Amino acid sequence: MNTAAIKEASNFIKTKIEKSPSLGLILGSGLGVLGDEIENPIKIPYKEIPHFPESTVSGHKGQLVVGTLKGKEVIAMQGRFHYYEGYSMQQVTFPVRVMKYLGIDSLIVTNAAGGINVNFSPGDLMIINDHMNNMGNNPLIGPNDETLGVRFPDMSEAYDRAYIQHADSCAKEIGLSVQHGVYVGNTGPTYETPTEVKMLRTLGGDAVGMSTVPEVIVAAHAGLRVLGISCISNMAAGILDQPLTHHEVIETTEKVREDFLHFIKTVINTLPQ
Ligand code: 6GU
Repeated sequence: MNTAAIKEASNFIKTKIEKSPSLGLILGSGLGVLGDEIENPIKIPYKEIPHFPESTVSGHKGQLVVGTLKGKEVIAMQGRFHYYEGYSMQQVTFPVRVMKYLGIDSLIVTNAAGGINVNFSPGDLMIINDHMNNMGNNPLIGPNDETLGVRFPDMSEAYDRAYIQHADSCAKEIGLSVQHGVYVGNTGPTYETPTEVKMLRTLGGDAVGMSTVPEVIVAAHAGLRVLGISCISNMAAGILDQPLTHHEVIETTEKVREDFLHFIKTVINTLPQ
C-alpha cells in the first residue's frame, strides 16, 4: 500500500472539511440515502480526490459526504468500489485507508446481499456476525507496511462484538426484527448458480454479496471497530423459482429505506465508545 497516495488523498479532503471524522460509513447499493441525512454536509466527488478510483455502477453515486449525523462527525461513502469493476483489491480498499488516516476509529459497512438462509426474506436486515472471504484474493497480499498494521492480522473479531450487541439492542428498542448471519463475499459480477448457493449454505453462509469483505479485511488490519449490516434484497438463486435482477435489488432497498435509516441512525446515536 502506497502511503504517499493515502496522505495526498487525505490532505486534499482535509482542505475541504473543518472537523475530523470519527466514524466512517460505507453505503451500499440503494442505501446511499443515509448520506442525505448528514447535517452541514460537505460533498466531495470521488473524481476530484487524488488517487481515488471512479465508481461505475448505476445506483451508486460516487462521492464522500462529510458532516454530522446524530451528533457524530461522520464521513460517508455514497457508492463504493467493487472488485468486479476491474479495480485491484488495493483500489477497492483505498478509501478505508484514507478514512483511517483522517481519524476514524469505527466503520459501519452496509450492502445489499442475496439471502442464502432459507429463513430469510427479501427486505430483512442482517447484522453481520462474521464473513467468509470467497473472492480468491486478499487486499493485504504484498509487502506489509508496518505503519498501517501487522503482517498477519487477527480476524477472530473482525466484526466488533460490542457493536453487534449494541445493534441488536437498538433493533429491539425500535421494534425492528433483524437477522444475524455470515456474509459471503463473492467476486461477481454474475450472481451464483443454484448449486453454488447450496454449497455456500453448506459451508455456513447466510447471505452473499460482491463487496464488504475487502474493506473489512483492511479495516481489521487498520485496527478499526466494524459494524456490518446487510439488506437482504432478494433470495439467492435456487431458493425461489424466479430469476435475479439488479432491478429487484434496488427495488427492495427502496422499500426498506425507512427501517434501514431509522435503525442505522439509532445505532449511531448511541454507539458505544
Ligand atoms: Cl444473490 N449474489 C451476489 N453475489 N450478490 C448479490 C446478490 C446475490 N443479491 C444482491 N447482491
